[in-house]
Amino acid sequence: MKIAVVGTGYVGLVTGACLAKVGHTVSCVDIDQEKIKKLKKGIIPIYEPGLDKVVKEVAKKGKLVFDISLKKVLPDVEAIFIAVGTPAKKDGKADLQYVHAVAKEIGENIKDFKVIINKSTVPVGTAKEVKNIILKTYKGKFAVVSNPEFLKEGYAVTDFMKPDRIVIGCDDKQAKKIMQEIYKPVKGKKVFTTVQSAEMIKYASNAFLATKISFINEIANLCEKVNADVKEVSHGMGLDQRIGKSFLSAGIGYGGSCFPKDTSALNQIAGTKGYDFRLLKAVIEVNAKQRQSVIDKLEQIFGNLKNKRIAVLGLAFKNNTDDVRESAAIDIIRMLTGVGARVKAYDPKANDNAKEILNSGVKITNDPYEAIKNADALVIATEWPEFANLDFHKIKNLLKQPIIIDGRNLLNSIIIKKLGFQYYGIGRA
Ligand code: UGA
Repeated sequence: MKIAVVGTGYVGLVTGACLAKVGHTVSCVDIDQEKIKKLKKGIIPIYEPGLDKVVKEVAKKGKLVFDISLKKVLPDVEAIFIAVGTPAKKDGKADLQYVHAVAKEIGENIKDFKVIINKSTVPVGTAKEVKNIILKTYKGKFAVVSNPEFLKEGYAVTDFMKPDRIVIGCDDKQAKKIMQEIYKPVKGKKVFTTVQSAEMIKYASNAFLATKISFINEIANLCEKVNADVKEVSHGMGLDQRIGKSFLSAGIGYGGSCFPKDTSALNQIAGTKGYDFRLLKAVIEVNAKQRQSVIDKLEQIFGNLKNKRIAVLGLAFKNNTDDVRESAAIDIIRMLTGVGARVKAYDPKANDNAKEILNSGVKITNDPYEAIKNADALVIATEWPEFANLDFHKIKNLLKQPIIIDGRNLLNSIIIKKLGFQYYGIGRA
């Protein structure tokens, strides 16, 4: 099937490339001319394992092309995925201006039946808004479908190819058939719902995962007070299949372009409907406070952090990505410099992105040991597995004091303590 995907961010590019990989002919459209120029040359603007390989392979076969004009590709396609950004506004509301602009362009150029698919995370009711915008300039038949994406950065290609479920909110028979055809080659349970339910499933899923993280972080904080170990606790809890093992890693709180934005958007949606979503508010508050636990631990050790040299390993909001949006690591660095500490940091992939948002007082190094040299303490802020494989004998010699704050409970505390470090995890006995 011929398909257009509008927006070449994480979701759009992965969707376009993977749909081409499973046999469709895809045009990825973006108004950013520079980005399209680079994509045409095979330059992928984001670090996402496996994506460059898929893009190159399908582009070579002519199954994936890039364009700046939706108007040009529209007549040829049966389905259009809208995968443009929906950043959070200051009040937490999702900013839908890009979705609306695409809908307007579709409305002005559509000539026959098309399925328009909302892939971006959008509030309940957006499909209806998109429909109404198109109806302003086009009176023929078309359908608007909600098909939220559940991919995780760093695992996006696998998540697309082997999803737990594919949620399709659809109120139109012809559109349902087209959606079935699009996803026929992708294994994974297809769940058909109303458009509104599909839109809600996306927010509810992200909010629930965020709740799991804030919950285990609260348990971790309590573990510290009762001398229990949150790693043992989450393991013991997760074996209960009703609870499940995943998203029970305590740490410095969730970040990224999705959970913070989507939890505040859902809270905002509830507010506009006069509903006080108390649990979600607590999840957001707990997450914001969790960053502070690293600073608290350092202050307990050193008292004042002014002029203390702190090495921070990790800048990305999680491992396997170069994305620093809403990263807890970045927040912690800002908090540290805010109380006068001097920070040197390292990340295997996110150094360049971090340099763009951190002030020049924060030194970013291309070598983890360089960041650690002469520091008073080491903070692990991102769960890159390779940090656990560093040479800790060497690190002990490089540090002024053998102090590690493991914000991600990444290290084997027994081994690290045996090496002579003072080790502080999150919620560790
Ligand atoms: C998240 C969801 O997991 C995806 O299903 C969803 O499609 C995506 O948002 C989205 O809405 O686009 P992502 O933001 O890529 O994916 O990252 P996650 O792997 O979910 O991690 C989010 C944050 O939670 C990270 O900062 C991570 O370090 C943190 N986290 C995760 C924990 O602190 N503990 C855990 O146990 C798991």
